[in-house]
Amino acid sequence: MSRRSETGGATIAVRIKRSDDAAQSTFAVRRIEPMSVLDVLLAVQHNDDRTIGFRYSCRVGMCGTCTVRVNGRSVLACQTEITPDTRELRIDPLAGLPVVRDLVVDMTPFWEAWASITPYLVPHDDAEVGMDAQPAVIPPDSAERRNIDPSLDCIGCGACFSSCGIAGLHRDFIGPAALNRALVLIDDSRDSASEARLDAVGGDGTGVDRCHYIYGCSAACPKGLDPARAIRRIRKRRLG
Ligand code: FES
Repeated sequence: MSRRSETGGATIAVRIKRSDDAAQSTFAVRRIEPMSVLDVLLAVQHNDDRTIGFRYSCRVGMCGTCTVRVNGRSVLACQTEITPDTRELRIDPLAGLPVVRDLVVDMTPFWEAWASITPYLVPHDDAEVGMDAQPAVIPPDSAERRNIDPSLDCIGCGACFSSCGIAGLHRDFIGPAALNRALVLIDDSRDSASEARLDAVGGDGTGVDRCHYIYGCSAACPKGLDPARAIRRIRKRRLG
């Protein structure tokens, strides 16, 4: 049985940025309760315009594919509830990334920045390998674990990248998500590439020194991570 109900024929005026000749399209979407921004987009696709372009996959805030800007804020469409008093909504693609179609952006610059920091753990030469090797563990109650955990749960949604004025203006800036990932590995004692990574994130104009600490990235993160804190910590580590 559906737990959803229509709310007395109420509608929301939804303006969606389009990538074709029309600057934007406006749709009257019938209100249901509860309703997320992704529900709005699916309603438009089913009832008004099957050609509208947007991305989603998991619908539970895990895959990071549905990120759009809603009234200027970068959010996960599937996790953003429409409040009862909403009468109008503006939906735009993420900022700072090339648009493929309508709300779909090309994430290549985001993932290229991610790749540039060697985003995986590089084990020490004497690390145990093979089928019988025991995984190296960071104890749950250690200071190291407490350092790493607040930065760990990035889903690569690009909300921070889209909310960073520097990343949008300067394609060569590594950006908040990749710098946050770099800190996770730099702080991990099992990793052997931390020094090289500290060098990689300090490049002139591309690394941590480019950050102006506006904190838009931290405000936007749907997982509550704090990339600006990560950037501050990396800068401190680089200064020794
Ligand atoms: S659809 Fe996966 S995070 Fe929204």
